Amino acid sequence: MGQVDRDHSSNDPALMCVDDEANVLSSLLRVFDGEGYRVLLASNGEDALSVLERQEVAIVLTDLNMPGMSGIELLKHVKTKSPLAVRMMLTAEADLEAAMQAINYGEVFRFIVKPWCEPELKNAVAQAFNLYHVCAENQRLTELTLEQNKLLEDWNSRLKEEVKKQTASILDKNQELEGLYRQLEGNFVDTIKTFAALLDMHDPETCSHSRRVTRASRFIADKLGIEGEELRTLEIAAMLHDVGKIGIPDTILRKPPYALTRIEKEILQKHPVLGENCVQSITRLCDAGRLIRHHHEHFAGGGYPDRISGEVIPLGSRIIAVADAFDRELHPQGQGHEVSVREALKQMRSQTGSLFDPRVVNALIPFVYEESNKANGSVEVGIPISSLKVGMVLTRNVVTGSGILLIAKGETLTPVYVERIKNYARIDPSMAKLYIYQRMNNADDGPEGDNVLLEVEKDG
Ligand SMILES: [Fe+2]
Ligand SMILES: [Fe+2]
Repeated sequence: MGQVDRDHSSNDPALMCVDDEANVLSSLLRVFDGEGYRVLLASNGEDALSVLERQEVAIVLTDLNMPGMSGIELLKHVKTKSPLAVRMMLTAEADLEAAMQAINYGEVFRFIVKPWCEPELKNAVAQAFNLYHVCAENQRLTELTLEQNKLLEDWNSRLKEEVKKQTASILDKNQELEGLYRQLEGNFVDTIKTFAALLDMHDPETCSHSRRVTRASRFIADKLGIEGEELRTLEIAAMLHDVGKIGIPDTILRKPPYALTRIEKEILQKHPVLGENCVQSITRLCDAGRLIRHHHEHFAGGGYPDRISGEVIPLGSRIIAVADAFDRELHPQGQGHEVSVREALKQMRSQTGSLFDPRVVNALIPFVYEESNKANGSVEVGIPISSLKVGMVLTRNVVTGSGILLIAKGETLTPVYVERIKNYARIDPSMAKLYIYQRMNNADDGPEGDNVLLEVEKDG
């Protein structure tokens, strides 16, 4: 065995020639001298395999018939040990059987017959080197791809871990922020309570007035579909709508409106602006401040402080105006007597359109009924259809047996309504009995008693 290694690094893939005849090996060496290949020589199959163990071989060019291991046997081993190496067969016996075996067992790239044609042999070896380089490059790229895929998988799993950690950290931060937000919200509510307490200290009557106005405003807002932050702003403004009265002398506050002088009236009318000034230094109360400012504007114009009208007045202010006026009607200051709900509502209705937004007054009516029923201790009673009277007020919807809504709860029975219910009752036996609220103190009067705020509903 020998090696010819001219102008080549020992790492360059080599052409290995295997033949038991020394003169053939030297002829081959001569053929490839100057071709730029590193050439290795082996005189038998065993030597060739031991070379393969230690060196990178691109092509194995072997004789077919050799003592010991045959060329076909050698190529079978080469295929297993060094699959990239291109296998070529060189033989003097150009028989079909030998060619078939070489192809089937050794998977040879070329089968060359001795004596060879030199240009053909050189060309075949050059092609074999090209094939080797293409396959080696292909293998290198496949390995690189696998390696990079592995790296990507690693990065991906590290990224997932990182995202998981970041998500957990964001969730922690969110929880922390929520805690801080709740704390801030608590501080904010405390601020409102402080204002209300100041108002209470100054004038307990004003404070209970503010609480009632807040309840009524919340009820109206609900009927008008106001919710979320807008509702919250309205509630705060309703609670603090008269906070500006802290800056008004007691002597003026305690006088009934009709007893005020012109100057005293002007001073009193400053309370919406004083109230707005009072809260506007707190950023979150600015919107509420605007509602406070306009709670004495008139729907048709001419109110104070800005004499604006209609929908230019913020809806929240229009709601507070109605709730406020209704409460003042029910609890007139300095007059020494209570006004009935009917009178208060009548008064409100007479000013609807001029002082108050009709839509808001309508939304107040069910509140008035509810409050009145609570106040006068009304109870729900069942009455036969024949006892229905004009003026009764329905508590629940009147529905036919087939589920058709005849009259909505809260409606006052008119002659038309009574007629309609009676007509339906004639053809629908399930409507034999309805329920109404009746005042406890008039229970002896029966359903025909003072039913100012009675409510009625169909049985079942
Ligand atoms: Fe006011
Ligand atoms: Fe008020």
